[in-house]
Amino acid sequence: MIIAIPSEQAIEETRVAATPETVKKYIDWGFEVRIQKNAGNRAGFSDRDYQIAGAIIVDTPQELYRHADLILKINAPLPEEIPNLSSGQIIIANFQALAHPAHIKELADKGLVCMALDMLPRISRAQSMDVLSSQSNLSGYAAVIEAVSRLNKAVPLMMTAAGTVPPAKALILGAGVAGLQAIATAKRLGAQVYAFDVRPQVKEQVESLGAKFIEVSQENFETADGYASETSLAYQKQQHAAISAQLATTDIVITTALIPGKHAPLLITEDMLKQMPSGGVVVDMATASGGNVEGSINDQSIKIGDIEIIGNSTPARLIPTTASKLFANNIYNFLATQYHTDSKRIAFNFKDELVSQICITQNGKLLI
Ligand code: NAI
Repeated sequence: MIIAIPSEQAIEETRVAATPETVKKYIDWGFEVRIQKNAGNRAGFSDRDYQIAGAIIVDTPQELYRHADLILKINAPLPEEIPNLSSGQIIIANFQALAHPAHIKELADKGLVCMALDMLPRISRAQSMDVLSSQSNLSGYAAVIEAVSRLNKAVPLMMTAAGTVPPAKALILGAGVAGLQAIATAKRLGAQVYAFDVRPQVKEQVESLGAKFIEVSQENFETADGYASETSLAYQKQQHAAISAQLATTDIVITTALIPGKHAPLLITEDMLKQMPSGGVVVDMATASGGNVEGSINDQSIKIGDIEIIGNSTPARLIPTTASKLFANNIYNFLATQYHTDSKRIAFNFKDELVSQICITQNGKLLI
């Protein structure tokens, strides 16, 4: 079996789907690993590192894909990459299939077998493969570091001979995996942290990290599978009022609120931003799904008044070495469940929910 690791083509992508460490493991399994020249450069892994691990470096994508059986990627192939792919090849990546159905149809028509890591069931057995969790966790951390680096104030309380500096205030909206890590990071940096989520169940987790939970109402918008659902208009009004009041003293805002398969909820309007003290920084992590902040743009930083709004749905890309390492481990852990030591082969078991739930195209058909 030949495994191919391409260089990610999206300009904003910094990560790579295999590290020298996972490459070595695939080679120990008995596979050949080919990696596109400079594929790991932005993540801090050189071609030499991969060669030492046993990989073959390949110059062009055409050459890379020609003989590949299994392609490991961070993101779905871009339309311009499709002509280099062949029917029957298996691609494992993040596909964001529900947001891009036409593109996935094109991949199905090409006869590719696409396995979407971002659709893995969130069961205990799959925790070590959960790219959404590994990348959201790092993104929550990186978003706070990014915001702090743009803030023109110190974050912690400082009592000095020259005067006392009060701690900066941070507001984290959405306390899922990313939000909880953002809370923990802001807290460790010394900020006074406030957080809000429509699932009142997370109040305890927020408080255990030392942040204050903003109460809106006792209504619960958690679905049976643990995700948030859309809120009522009356609730949204109450929520906007509570967030507005908090913004008046907030220096850093990190928004992470998502509703699976839906447009992200609008939590901060332009008018609400005007409440913030001057020099405030907002990182909107929901921009790929429409944004939590009015006017924010994915992968761009804009100013509304003197507030900076950074649209970044994947701040984990700011720390690509760590993000690639965890992503590559997630893929390896998934493949390990389908690898047979006796035959030294990967044979995907389509009766296993890990495979059946993530296989989105097969035999020319769209399976979602
Ligand atoms: P997510 O990325 O889908 O959403 C982020 C957060 O935004 C959620 O906490 C959600 O409640 C919140 N949110 C949605 N609408 C909102 C609004 N209008 N205002 C404020 N907040 C809003 O969530 P994530 O991080 O993927 O976690 C979702 C669930 O999955 C959680 O219950 C988590 O514990 C669970 N989970 C389970 C795992 C497992 O292996 N069993 C692994 C990771 C997460």
